Amino acid sequence: MAADVNYPDYLALRELLSLQRPRSQPEHPDELLFIVVHQASELWFKVIIQQLHALRADLQKGDGERSLWHLQRINTLMRIVAEQLSSLDTLPPQRFQQFRNFLGSSSGQQSEQFRIVGALSGMRDEAFVKALQAGGAIPPAIAEALATPRLEDLFLDLLKARGRTLDELYTGPGPDPMFFLAEAFIEYDQAFQRWRFLHVQLVERVIGPGTGGTGGTMGAQFLARSISQRFFPALWDVRARLLAG
Ligand code: HEM
Repeated sequence: MAADVNYPDYLALRELLSLQRPRSQPEHPDELLFIVVHQASELWFKVIIQQLHALRADLQKGDGERSLWHLQRINTLMRIVAEQLSSLDTLPPQRFQQFRNFLGSSSGQQSEQFRIVGALSGMRDEAFVKALQAGGAIPPAIAEALATPRLEDLFLDLLKARGRTLDELYTGPGPDPMFFLAEAFIEYDQAFQRWRFLHVQLVERVIGPGTGGTGGTMGAQFLARSISQRFFPALWDVRARLLAG
């Protein structure tokens, strides 16, 4: 049997709880919430990245059932990460202004894990890659994720291996496991876009729609442009084809 371990040691709570380090002087009482929401999001991104790797491996093995299981977990986590943003809706603009200067040039834009989630999910948009290059050399972990096949292509390969087509999933006799897997990918696109939308709303509420960000962008206006980015264009196109047909 494994050596006995208690709750604080198992969770490394001493270290974990010493990692929230507000920089404002004197300490602003709202900075703790601001840090915790970001840190919690990064922890969830860590689990999402692990699950994306597992999902990709199962798709490559041709295991649609386990793929669905991973994807459902990813979708649940994306919903949680998006919902967390709402806690910052309680941060009034004048109070954020009181500690914003202490953030320096830190910005969510520098989140490596957020980029890895995008890259592993299949984001290859020109704007996405250009933005990555703008910061100098692309960090190795992101470059590695970008070099992998697109997630949507892994799904389409699995369908092909099973002798199925996307159009037939949506026109065939009835919903089956592959149809539900396809719909779970759609749900993932929706959940990710919802995070983007809620984040834009939060930014508008806290710093205003026209204010530039600490990362040097046009703020909400810059962020709003990416809301329409999709990981699984073929799954959206099939809908349009059905209506046109
Ligand atoms: C008061 C709350 C927040 C404000 C005012 C805010 C503001 C901004 C702004 C203005 C940008 C654009 C880049 C820049 O110029 O800085 C940005 C990007 C970003 N923020 Fe936030 N943010 C907030 C909360 C959060 C939270 C809680 C997260 C969770 C991790 C987050 C993650 C990100 C990410 C990942 C990006 C890059 C998005 C992309 O390039 O598509 N932000 N944020």
